[in-house]
Amino acid sequence: MAERLLIVHGPNLNLLGTREPEIYGSTTLEDINSLCRQTARDCAMEPDIVQSNHEGELVDAVQAAAGTAAGIVINPAAYTHTSVAIADALKAVGLPVVEVHLSNVHAREDFRRHSYVSPVADAVIAGAGPAGYQYAIRHIASLVDRRL
Ligand code: DQA
Repeated sequence: MAERLLIVHGPNLNLLGTREPEIYGSTTLEDINSLCRQTARDCAMEPDIVQSNHEGELVDAVQAAAGTAAGIVINPAAYTHTSVAIADALKAVGLPVVEVHLSNVHAREDFRRHSYVSPVADAVIAGAGPAGYQYAIRHIASLVDRRL
């Protein structure tokens, strides 16, 4: 059976396509999800995709991955810079984690340079646009293969 992979999108990512296109481009979240589904299947993984604008729902999704998923790809969006709760949940489940940002958060406002999630992530990809999710999925697949 294919291993499951949790893909988590944080707040306002449902608006991709129309949200600040000069920063995030014109790709919609559905486009990104199609790319993720294809890439995950190429890596013999079955994706579960969650988007929420609510911190607690993101925590619930991460907790639910324990014992069901092989890894987590997460773009926590603005919660990256504020959420101890999401970082704690990721730490608690102990699965491989890759943090993704569409934009290069290090080339933007100072507050975007700090991430609560990065210390609990195995890898961080920022500034590669939608392809960042593909790199992240492949990285999780390589970590899972090494684990086997
Ligand atoms: C983001 C970067 C965050 O700083 C921002 O709050 C987002 C999106 C990105 O994908 O570049 O909502 O995570």
